[in-house]
Amino acid sequence: MTRLTPLAASLPSTVPFVGPEAQERALGRPFAARLGANESGFGPAPEALAAMRAAAGEAWMYGDPEAHELRQAIAAQHGIDASHVRLGEGIDGLLGDLVRLTVSEGVPVVTSAGAYPTFGYHVAGHGGALRAVPYAGDHEDPDALLAAAAEVGARLIYLSNPDNPMGTWHDAATVQRMIERVPEGATLVLDEAYADLAPDGALPPLDPTDPRVIRMRTFSKAHGLAGLRVGYALGHPDLIAAFDKVRNHFGLGRVAQAGALAALRAVGWLDDVRARVAASRDRIGAIARDGGLTPLPSATNFVALDTGRDGAFARALLAALAARGVFARMPGVAPLDRCIRVSCGPAAEMDVLAATLPEAIAAAEAGTG
Ligand SMILES: Cc1ncc(COP(=O)(O)O)c(C=O)c1O
Repeated sequence: MTRLTPLAASLPSTVPFVGPEAQERALGRPFAARLGANESGFGPAPEALAAMRAAAGEAWMYGDPEAHELRQAIAAQHGIDASHVRLGEGIDGLLGDLVRLTVSEGVPVVTSAGAYPTFGYHVAGHGGALRAVPYAGDHEDPDALLAAAAEVGARLIYLSNPDNPMGTWHDAATVQRMIERVPEGATLVLDEAYADLAPDGALPPLDPTDPRVIRMRTFSKAHGLAGLRVGYALGHPDLIAAFDKVRNHFGLGRVAQAGALAALRAVGWLDDVRARVAASRDRIGAIARDGGLTPLPSATNFVALDTGRDGAFARALLAALAARGVFARMPGVAPLDRCIRVSCGPAAEMDVLAATLPEAIAAAEAGTG
């Protein structure tokens, strides 16, 4: 038997997510509506599809380990030098590298209880001491995060804006004030996975020379390329350069680099997706209200639906939806877990949701599954 490190041996054998594929295998059939992972059912831009098809024949070659062209294109789009840009295998991969670079056993870090879980998962894997502060209502709480960071001497502070799982957001001024109050020795990890979908005024201005913050973006959401695994970090060149010490150098394949580059340039498609996401959010809201649920305001490609009851009811509702072919998810921690979380998607999937939700609510209420 291969011997694990004491740290690895001490970790739970769980992963942060059970994928919809595992649920489908358990159910014995595919979901009719895949609305649980905040992917984009609107798909990637046709230009990205064409670029990936063209690159497929070259997949016998490793991708450029520096992802030079894509890195330059992202830098140009943000009006910054490429030394501020780090590509990685999605935000999840970048979070792993960042934690590996900064957190060893016992190093304190701060997040919110119920926040997007991958950060905490990586911290656990490196033995960091994770402090989780409660949300304030349905928002992550900048003041509580900063206070806890100062108290424990945190190395990293994680904030997702807009937030997953609640879909709520803080305005740019609030986040900027938070950046300015980051305690000495700490770095704010600003996860902006939903930046492309955020309303005007939600994202603070980009200052990539500021060593107090590293910002994370992804092609998984509005660009519709979750399966490709491409994300990037924007930050101070010293921290950005440090990723070279630990990263998986061939982690971004040729097809991924080609697809992301074409997606970046498909500006018209992105505008179109934004409009479709907004329409889908409205539709989810209407379907939810018809069923007696309350949609929370959302700055993302999903909507949290308040059941007005507790986590046990929300879990029963989720199971009833799954049994009827609808994949959704929910927050893991009370009181957020009174909600279920439904991703935006094309009209056909919204129709499935509309047809299924009333029956699933009735089943959850009756306790009949
Ligand atoms: C807040 C947040 N960060 C990161 C991710 C994952 O991004 P990626 O696909 O780039 O790893 C998600 C996906 O749901 C998310 O909601």
